[in-house]
Amino acid sequence: FHVTWDIEAAEKGGYQHFMLKEMHEQPKAVKDTLSPRIDDENRILLDELRLTGEELNHFNKITIVACGTAMHAGLVGKHAIETFARIPVEVEIASEFRYRDPFVDERTLLIAVSQSGETADTLAALREAKARGAHVLTITNVVGSRISREAHDVFYTWAGPEIAVASTKAYITQVVALYLIGLYLAELKGTMTRQQVGEKVAELKTLPDKIQQILDQQETIQELANKQFNQQSVFFIGRGIDDYTAKEGSLKLKEISYIHSEAIAAGELKHGTIALLEEGTLVVALATQEQLYDKMLSNMKEVKARGAYVVAVTEEPRAAEVALSADVVLTIPDTHNEFTPALAVVPLQLFAYYTAVARGADVDKPKNLAKSVTVE
Ligand code: G6P
Repeated sequence: FHVTWDIEAAEKGGYQHFMLKEMHEQPKAVKDTLSPRIDDENRILLDELRLTGEELNHFNKITIVACGTAMHAGLVGKHAIETFARIPVEVEIASEFRYRDPFVDERTLLIAVSQSGETADTLAALREAKARGAHVLTITNVVGSRISREAHDVFYTWAGPEIAVASTKAYITQVVALYLIGLYLAELKGTMTRQQVGEKVAELKTLPDKIQQILDQQETIQELANKQFNQQSVFFIGRGIDDYTAKEGSLKLKEISYIHSEAIAAGELKHGTIALLEEGTLVVALATQEQLYDKMLSNMKEVKARGAYVVAVTEEPRAAEVALSADVVLTIPDTHNEFTPALAVVPLQLFAYYTAVARGADVDKPKNLAKSVTVE
């Protein structure tokens, strides 16, 4: 009698791939990242960011540096921090930052976002900023990682180990970390009252259940992927923060399915990319932003008129109206405008995953890619 014990299968906990398992861990990852930092009265406790109001006022801007998916989280964070705390934020690709003599000094709060805490370009950017006198905070998922050791302050995302090369649960916790930081800075700076912050925190607490509701729709998304997996090129469009989610959705798809994809701010379509649309080209349109909603609907009509097959992502209450300008509508539960990226990315992750599976790709270990890139 011989028993073979497959460690990898055991670690996947019954899921076919780590990526699928990790997407399903997102509700818990968000809960674990939030709960140690909020109390029963919806107050934010950020022991990791040791700043007084006076020290905060000393900073005249925030610079976020990161690579890949972490950079997309940074873009969402920029919007949240600027909206909540009214502090100017710039987001820079870490590999560009250090070679361009950046405007960084002792009045800069630098936030380095890195799942692994080992990415060479992000580490180099952090060192450059430190050398110029910036205060450095990192958001990372790996305790004791190099970046965590070199930063002044560390905010750990409690996503747990992420094995799949394509980042999912780490991304969502980075986004949540930046929401917390934005709200914390807002209260410290006085741009939001305690009560206003409390209302946002109450909404943040609902995100794990809402993410779960999207995961429960995975079969619908799998059916869609099974019909669309032969596309040559896919375009993701959105406005405002939906453009950031579009970028992340596009990256997920190309990383694991090897389909060429691009994300374009919807208003820019008419300046070039629309020329590429043919009968049946897949366009994924994000429409979650109240103030931009009508503009998005008209962009969707525009691409449909050129023969595109439009898959829209929108909040449930708008599904019926959006359906008039789309071929398929994927819904996310209703949430505050600023928080939609934490939900809208989930159907895009699932779509990328099932497309890669349908194409027979090695989902967890895509060719030419590494989980953490320790060369510059
Ligand atoms: C690699 C990974 C990506 C990740 C990026 C940044 O390219 O494949 O998934 O987003 O590095 O990694 P980091 O660990 O710094 O977040």
